[in-house]
Amino acid sequence: MEKIQKIKGFADLLPGESQVYARLESCARHVFARYGYKEARLPILERTELFSRSIGEETDVVQKEMYTFQDRKGRSLTMRPEATAGVVRAYVENGLHVKEELSKLYCAGPMFRYERPQKGRMRQFHQINVEALGSSSPLLDAEMLFMLAHFLGELGIADLNFEINSLGCAQCRPAYLSALNDYFKGFDAGQLCEDCMRRKLTNPLRVLDCKVPGCKELTRCAPVITDYQCPGCREHFDAVTWLLDAGGLAYTLNPRLVRGLDYYSRTTFEVTSGKIGAQSAVAGGGRYDGLVKNLGGPDLPGMGFACGMERLALLLGEVPSPIPDFFLAVLGDKALNAGLLLAQELRLAGLAGECSLAAKSAKSQLRLAGKTGARFCLILGDSEVENDAVVLKDMTSGTQETVSRKSLLEHLRT
Ligand code: HAM
Repeated sequence: MEKIQKIKGFADLLPGESQVYARLESCARHVFARYGYKEARLPILERTELFSRSIGEETDVVQKEMYTFQDRKGRSLTMRPEATAGVVRAYVENGLHVKEELSKLYCAGPMFRYERPQKGRMRQFHQINVEALGSSSPLLDAEMLFMLAHFLGELGIADLNFEINSLGCAQCRPAYLSALNDYFKGFDAGQLCEDCMRRKLTNPLRVLDCKVPGCKELTRCAPVITDYQCPGCREHFDAVTWLLDAGGLAYTLNPRLVRGLDYYSRTTFEVTSGKIGAQSAVAGGGRYDGLVKNLGGPDLPGMGFACGMERLALLLGEVPSPIPDFFLAVLGDKALNAGLLLAQELRLAGLAGECSLAAKSAKSQLRLAGKTGARFCLILGDSEVENDAVVLKDMTSGTQETVSRKSLLEHLRT
C-alpha cells in the first residue's frame, strides 16, 4: 500500500521536540499565574464571520490565509488563524464582563494559516496567547509587557528586541488614514502592487504592512501615526513608556509598526530575535479597545499578545529529558511477573522507570538501561526473586551490589 504523508506546512512533533513545547507551556503557566492569568481552552473551529469581522476583510490573513470550508449544513467555518477573536467571542458569549471587572486569560494551542512554509513559518503552528479584557489603564499595557519579558527571560531567551508603537484610537486614526490616503494617492500601479492599489483606498494602513519590496520602499517616507495622535493617546503612550523605562525594560520605538491584524488601537508591540532567520517575530500584540464592541459585546477595552511556539522552540534548542531513577532488567521468564510488580511498587512510591517486558540477555538489557539514561539498573533473576533481593547496578560508577527488597527504596532514594 502507498504511504500517506502529512499535509505540507504541518508537522509531527515527536518526543524530543514535543518536550520543548511542553516546557514552553509549563513555563507560561508558571509565570502567567503569578500575574493572575487563568487558562481557557477554546474551540479551534469558529464561524468564518468571527475572523473576517475582527481581523479585518483587507488583511492577508482573511484574504489569503484562512482554512475555510463549509460544514454539512452549508455554514462557513474557519480553522482559527489566531486566538484573540475566539477569546473575545467567548468573553462576550459567556458574559465574563458581568462576572468580573477584569478578565485575564491565556490559552495555548494550534493555529492555522495558509502561508508559504519556511523556517519558523508553518501552516499549522502553535501560539501561547494572552488576553486581558476590561481595563484601559496604561498600567495594564506595561504590566503585560513586563510579563512577556518575564516569561521570555524565565525561558533563558536573551538578545530580543522589543519594538513598540501606538496606533492611535477611533478619534485620531481617521486624520492619519486620510494623510496616508493623500500620500499613496500619488502612486500608480507601476509603483504599488495590485493589492496595495486596492488597499490604499479601502485600508491604507495595510499598505504599511505590505511585504512587496516596491511597496516597502514607498512606505519609507509615508506619514507616521505619532504625528497625528490625539492628546489622550499621547498621554496613554507616555505613561506606558514611562513605566517601561522605570521598570528597566529596554525597547525601541518604531512608529512604522502596524501589525497584520486590523483590530489594534493604541499600544502595539512586537518582539524579534536576530537568531532565527527571516521569520524573526517571536511575539506580537497590543490593545484592541474597539474589538469587544465590534463582536457584539459592551464597549470594553482589551489587550493581549501571542508568542509563536515554533520560533521560541528554535531559540530554545533541545530540552534535556528527565532522568529516570531505574531500569528493571529481568533475567529468566519466571522473574517477569515479579519484575513488573516491583516496578509498579517503585512508581507508586514516587520513582520513575521502565521495566523489561521480555527476558532478554543481561548484555542487551544493560544496553537498554543505558539508553534510557536511568541512574540505576535493577537486575532481577529467578534466584533474586526466591531470596527477596535485587541486584542494584549504579549506572554512573558501574558498581553493583545485591540488596534486599526491603531496603531497595532507601538505596534508590539516597
Ligand atoms: P500575530 O503577530 O499574527 O499576532 O502572531 C503572533 C506570533 O505568532 C508571531 O509573532 C509569530 O511568532 C507566530 N506566528 C504567526 N504566524 C505564524 C506561522 N505561520 N508560523 C509560525 N509562527 C507564526 C496574533 O496572532 C495576535 N492574535 C496576537 C494578539 C493577541 N494580539 C492581541 N492579543
